[in-house]
Amino acid sequence: MPAATGVAEAAAVLRSGGLVAFPTETVYGLGANALDARAAARIFEAKARPSFDPLITHLADVTDLTALVGALPPTVAALAERFWPGPLTLIVDRPPTVPPIVTSGLDTMAVRVPDHPVARELIRQAGVPVAAPSANRFGMLSPTRAEHVVAGLGDAVDLIVDGGPTRCGIESTIVDARGGQPVVLRLGSLPVEALVEAIGPVSVRPGSSGQPVAPGTLAAHYAPRTPLRVVTAPVPARPDDGTRGYLALRDAPEGAYGAVEVLSPDGDLTGAAARLFDALHRLDATGVTEIVAERVPDTGLGRAINDRLRRAAATWQTSG
Ligand code: TXA
Ligand code: MG
Repeated sequence: MPAATGVAEAAAVLRSGGLVAFPTETVYGLGANALDARAAARIFEAKARPSFDPLITHLADVTDLTALVGALPPTVAALAERFWPGPLTLIVDRPPTVPPIVTSGLDTMAVRVPDHPVARELIRQAGVPVAAPSANRFGMLSPTRAEHVVAGLGDAVDLIVDGGPTRCGIESTIVDARGGQPVVLRLGSLPVEALVEAIGPVSVRPGSSGQPVAPGTLAAHYAPRTPLRVVTAPVPARPDDGTRGYLALRDAPEGAYGAVEVLSPDGDLTGAAARLFDALHRLDATGVTEIVAERVPDTGLGRAINDRLRRAAATWQTSG
């Protein structure tokens, strides 16, 4: 449904235990009532998501967090105050009102206030916190358009609210700031530089823990159906590259690739992040035999882009 007419109906679906896909500023989410264990279970089923991968709980307003979990550690409170609504997910203690299935049994809970008017109005009207992973099948490309959700999840969703393409295009940055030096558990749409400016040094440990703390950090994730290879410099097409696809940052490569996507003609990494998953969805749909993807500069959102490309490539290295 279009956002203008769909929000009230979508809120009713959430209240009655259903699944609603909705736009956020990062990617589309697959939402369910976070206080309803059965509704949350349906998310895992629809995504074919392993039960060890916890969900992010979404709130409409910053003040809803203390209402849900009580007093916050100082750095968590400071980050929420500074960056919400926005593409930042914070780790807090799970309150007893949120059933353990939402957090995959963890005593901690990931939570954020999205910066999207449709998402916030939906959560507000639903009147409950909304658990929502990205609205794709587990391990596959994230959805940045309603069409991607239809193609990936289809009938598994009760209702999709179409808010057009998402603004940021890459998932939220996940930070554990409960004590000691804050740790970035997943690189995302809020650049590390912005965190450092707000709270000082952070450590970046996406997926280095060996424990499935943030499975969005699994070595293999965010994968297109087509095998993907990352290259460090532009690669001109060879004679047989008509069957290959190419993902460039700013300049289309020389020669005849079967399909080419340019992320950002002016090299702007924020714009490139916004188009990343859409470009990969399109290359995937062309039927090329392989996607050759350029690594981008490792600053700002470039770090999150490279993170996603590395994990997409790893899927293909491990599965052959
Ligand atoms: O931008 C986003 O964050 C999007 C939109 C829909 O909000 N959501 C999203 O959710 O990316 P998902 O499920 O695709 O990724 C959630 C990540 C997973 O890597 C999960 O392991 C991690 O959050 N996570 C959830 N709860 C956690 C916790 N208690 N501790 C550490 N990581 C957690
Ligand atoms: Mg995801």
